[in-house]
Amino acid sequence: MPIPKAELHVHIEGTLEPELAFTLAERNAITLPHPTIDDLRAAYSFTDLQSFLNLYYELMTVLRTPQDFTDLAEAYLTRAAAQGVRHAEIFFDPQAHTNRGIPLDTVINGLTAALDTSHQRHGISTTLILCFLRDRPATEALHTLHQARPHLHHITAIGLDSAELGHPPEKFTHVFDAARAMGLRCVAHAGEEGPASYIWQALNLLKVDRVDHGIRCLEDPELLAHLASTQTPLTVCPLSNVRLRAVDTLADHPLPALMDAGLLVTVNSDDPAYFGGYVHDNYEALRHHLGLDDTALRQLARNSFTASFLPTERRAELIAEVDAHPTT
Ligand code: ADE
Ligand code: ZN
Repeated sequence: MPIPKAELHVHIEGTLEPELAFTLAERNAITLPHPTIDDLRAAYSFTDLQSFLNLYYELMTVLRTPQDFTDLAEAYLTRAAAQGVRHAEIFFDPQAHTNRGIPLDTVINGLTAALDTSHQRHGISTTLILCFLRDRPATEALHTLHQARPHLHHITAIGLDSAELGHPPEKFTHVFDAARAMGLRCVAHAGEEGPASYIWQALNLLKVDRVDHGIRCLEDPELLAHLASTQTPLTVCPLSNVRLRAVDTLADHPLPALMDAGLLVTVNSDDPAYFGGYVHDNYEALRHHLGLDDTALRQLARNSFTASFLPTERRAELIAEVDAHPTT
């Protein structure tokens, strides 16, 4: 069994495997522009974040009923359990559904029908992170936040995702202020394709508890030193970075440099159905392509719990499970 770990950066819509997409398309009488699974898979060749997002938003239109969202979450949890995941903080994109007429209740009730029993059935504790689409207006994000009020017992944090370039974190400062006042924690994608200045904005204006991706912090020594001294976690996604061409090859990935600089680095899958692997596959890729040894991989597993929003006691229990585990 793979080493116990938390997954802190996974978009539930990015776990939609082509087979399930076709099943749901048929169930909902939707015709996909890709006639067969092979045609669809052939489209999984991306040149940048936007080229991926185009397919990601297109394919998620097969999700229509609460049962569709339940089936999606259940398929993810089954795969995550086999990858050693013991705790998952799962992103979802409400506006990507409400903007095409799917009620927020359908999305959240569908997802939580699977998540609520995940601990008993899969040994995985879960929570949701509500992400705002940064390429949509901030007023729409604020409206979404208010719509989510009845569901806050399922939601630990808010996040910020979608097309990064040209959509700096500062645009959402007041939305993040409002969420914090509601007792929510804050994370944001920053420094995936965008510059180091977006990471500074996420820290100083959005006051995030973690930075999602954040790999471009290496371009700013002062930022690197700041992230090391504050131990603000980064949720790094190696296979994603290669597939979206933020990094040329796995062998060039900056994760070892980030660890050497003393940052609190975690490893995650992002959109595993699209990027060729789930979270443990990312750990294994680091072993094979970057030569990370058992000690480093074990540290990454510990970091995943340290960086989580779990209560201190539960974090300590899970870190003890990592230390007691015979293999990485
Ligand atoms: N939405 C889903 N995956 C994403 C990513 N890697 N970056 C930004 N937004 C996303
Ligand atoms: Zn992401």
